[in-house]
Amino acid sequence: MNSLSYFFFCFLSFLLCRNINAIKSTESNDVYEIGVGIADITGPAAEINMMGYAKMGQDTSGIHFRLFSRAFIIQDHEGKRICYVSADLAMVDMLVKLEVVQVLKKKYNGLYTEENVMIAGTHTHSGPGGFLQYVLYIITSQGFIFQNFYAIVDGIVRSIDIAHSNMVKGHIYYNEGELLNASINRSPTAYANNPSEERERYEHNTDKTMYLLKFSTLSGVPIGAITWFAVHPTSMNNTNRLISGDNKGYASLLFEQDFNVGQLLGKGPFVAAFPNANLGDVSPNLKGPHCADTGLPCDNPTSTCGGHSQKCYSLGPGSNMFESTKIIAERQYLKAKELFLTAKEKINGSVSFIHQYVDMSNVTVLLSNGSIARTCKPAMGYSFAAGTTDGPGAFDFKQGSTTSNSFWNLVRDALSKPTQALIKCHEPKPILLATGQMHFPYDWQPKILPTQLLKIGDVFIAGVPAEFSTMSGRRMKEALRNVTKSKKVILSGLSNAYSSYVTTFEEYQIQRYEGASTIFGPHTLNAYIQQFMKLARNLLNGSEIELGPTPPNLLSKQISLKPGVVFDSAPYGHKFGDCILNAKELYTVGSTVTVKFISGHPRNNLMTEKSFLTVEYFDETHSDWQIIATDTNWETKFIWERTNSILGHSQVTIIWEIPKTAKPGLYKIYHFGYHKNIFQQIKPYFGETKAFNVSNRN
Ligand SMILES: *[C@@H]1O[C@H](CO)[C@@H](O)[C@H](O)[C@H]1NC(C)=O
Ligand SMILES: *[C@@H]1O[C@H](CO)[C@@H](O)[C@H](O)[C@H]1NC(C)=O
Ligand SMILES: *[C@@H]1O[C@H](CO)[C@@H](O)[C@H](O)[C@H]1NC(C)=O
Ligand SMILES: *[C@@H]1O[C@H](CO)[C@@H](O)[C@H](O)[C@H]1NC(C)=O
Ligand SMILES: *[C@@H]1O[C@H](CO)[C@@H](O)[C@H](O)[C@H]1NC(C)=O
Ligand SMILES: *[C@@H]1O[C@H](CO)[C@@H](O)[C@H](O)[C@H]1NC(C)=O
Ligand SMILES: *[C@@H]1O[C@H](CO)[C@@H](O)[C@H](O)[C@H]1NC(C)=O
Ligand SMILES: *[C@@H]1O[C@H](CO)[C@@H](O)[C@H](O)[C@H]1NC(C)=O
Repeated sequence: MNSLSYFFFCFLSFLLCRNINAIKSTESNDVYEIGVGIADITGPAAEINMMGYAKMGQDTSGIHFRLFSRAFIIQDHEGKRICYVSADLAMVDMLVKLEVVQVLKKKYNGLYTEENVMIAGTHTHSGPGGFLQYVLYIITSQGFIFQNFYAIVDGIVRSIDIAHSNMVKGHIYYNEGELLNASINRSPTAYANNPSEERERYEHNTDKTMYLLKFSTLSGVPIGAITWFAVHPTSMNNTNRLISGDNKGYASLLFEQDFNVGQLLGKGPFVAAFPNANLGDVSPNLKGPHCADTGLPCDNPTSTCGGHSQKCYSLGPGSNMFESTKIIAERQYLKAKELFLTAKEKINGSVSFIHQYVDMSNVTVLLSNGSIARTCKPAMGYSFAAGTTDGPGAFDFKQGSTTSNSFWNLVRDALSKPTQALIKCHEPKPILLATGQMHFPYDWQPKILPTQLLKIGDVFIAGVPAEFSTMSGRRMKEALRNVTKSKKVILSGLSNAYSSYVTTFEEYQIQRYEGASTIFGPHTLNAYIQQFMKLARNLLNGSEIELGPTPPNLLSKQISLKPGVVFDSAPYGHKFGDCILNAKELYTVGSTVTVKFISGHPRNNLMTEKSFLTVEYFDETHSDWQIIATDTNWETKFIWERTNSILGHSQVTIIWEIPKTAKPGLYKIYHFGYHKNIFQQIKPYFGETKAFNVSNRN
């Protein structure tokens, strides 16, 4: 190229670029950089207490499907970005957030901080526990479970890494709609105590609104979706011992399967998250509470049968908990997909965020009648021990207790006798555990909590570190709609940290489970609303906000009383991976294959991003075995049991319900695992069934 043509070339490109820039700047307001990522966070699949029902002995014993972290990064045209993560966890703990952010800060030079990363738990009750830093939440898991904690932290970081490396230009669409038949209120007597003028404004006693954000590339290729809906993932009940994401986790897999044709589950590229909202008093068990012995409805105010809470629980809509999980998942998925396909409202405007730590035990609240009130140091009420109709408690506690009992007060006082000031502050809650006064071996419940608000155009996402009741969430959203003048306000429950429940002042008076677990006293909700209104005002006027007090990082204080795997051995005459119950010759579609293998302990290796099993199909055209299902598929179950704990024998049962759509042909099932010998060396093994035929004829 000679110098003259070079000059023209430069001049032309200058004109062209200027034009492109001109087009870009009018367009860029609704163009975002978007990244999505999914990663496996499944913890130990054996002998770890499950987080949710706080039930001794409800320990993991296999996998129905794996747990995932789903990350979404959104950046506006000025380079401001946020990261929203939804993880299949009972909740996100302060310690999880602190550790994730610490790793990210180093890795990305401060691009991701506690202020622009929000991490929410879906609230599944079927994942391993022991990952929270406060004592009350790790009693049933016998302390802290480091292996689970790091599986969670590493997996969340990995999902963000993937999202970070996948960023493309795209559009974001908003939609909302009502999902009517996936939830009921489990404390209707408390809800009914809210002012009648307020209740009359709403048709239902649970929040039926589903909120959706849709992400797609500039050319319209779907990238992902986030769908918030308030319902407890307690379709799997407290007798379940298989790891499961419950109705939320399965809704995600169904949605992702739709757009990731031909991919194994949990691998992307399309990612669909189903985070929770104001679910505090919301159950998925649509048949409602009934007495297990008589089949009659329970006593409603106390949720008891003949005076006992254990016999009163809710079931349905399916005939067993797997079917119920599937139904509630499908309803959420179908509604979400409908909202996704019809989403037209394109979001425009800047991305921003605001975050502040607050000592929630010491907030001065200005009430609407002009009085000044205060929040209290944490304490749990009697009805907390009664549990809920999704999972009743162990002793004879009843919900709706506003009186105490001298025996349990004696037990309580031995742990920590509540001061008169604490009792007065929490009234009418009879205090069962004065957790705010309990610091041995370290704090029992949190005081300093994160509050966070994200903004994408005119969409606001409030991250609350608790389980808000239906009406609490409605009041919070209304207050934020008032301040922001936007209709698009979303509540992201169980975000960034965990501090049990939040009810309205009126619901608190009734002292159902949720009111008894509202740990900062009757004015907790007002304190949160006041705080989030402040966050919104500051976010909008762009003024700085102080960081607030620093929450403690109690990682170095954690104690684990749970013994690890001692060793494994195979029974005499066998080796690890031996198939001890083989497949039959022939199956028809719709029937079930059950096989067993000699195994090691699943805690030897979590098989992260892998699988303890594969179902493989012989593809005749390529003359090759293809993996068609893993331990994440709904139709497989991986069940582990110790058959001799002295000799360290164990075996696994693998179940495959052959889908009606399975291709006829030759199949095999494999089991993969690790065993630990007496010298503490951990080694891999695998086993396989013989090949068997599947026919689509009877
Ligand atoms: C749990 O579900 C199973 C059916 O899957 C049922 O037999 C059992 O009674 C339920 N238990 C509770 C406490 O809900
Ligand atoms: C329940 O939800 C499903 C899926 O959203 C819908 O197809 C069905 O008609 C609904 N049933 C009732 C009784 O509302
Ligand atoms: C941006 O979003 C607002 C609020 O949804 C809407 O009213 C406005 O028309 C949008 N502007 C453009 C340029 O799309
Ligand atoms: C509670 O907050 C007030 C300010 O609102 C402060 O003066 C006081 O020291 C705090 N008390 C505790 C125990 O932190
Ligand atoms: C204001 O409301 C609170 C809680 O509802 C109540 O305790 C207080 O007595 C009321 N104050 C006045 C002045 O009415
Ligand atoms: C929101 O604004 C309306 C109208 O001004 C008001 O009646 C309502 O009390 C406000 N709600 C909250 C929660 O602040
Ligand atoms: C922004 O809003 C906050 C909270 O209402 C207020 O304290 C502050 O003075 C405001 N700043 C500006 C610059 O308007
Ligand atoms: C199973 O399939 C193989 C290969 O297609 C065939 O040779 C064999 O006869 C079949 N066995 C039965 C029991 O159907």
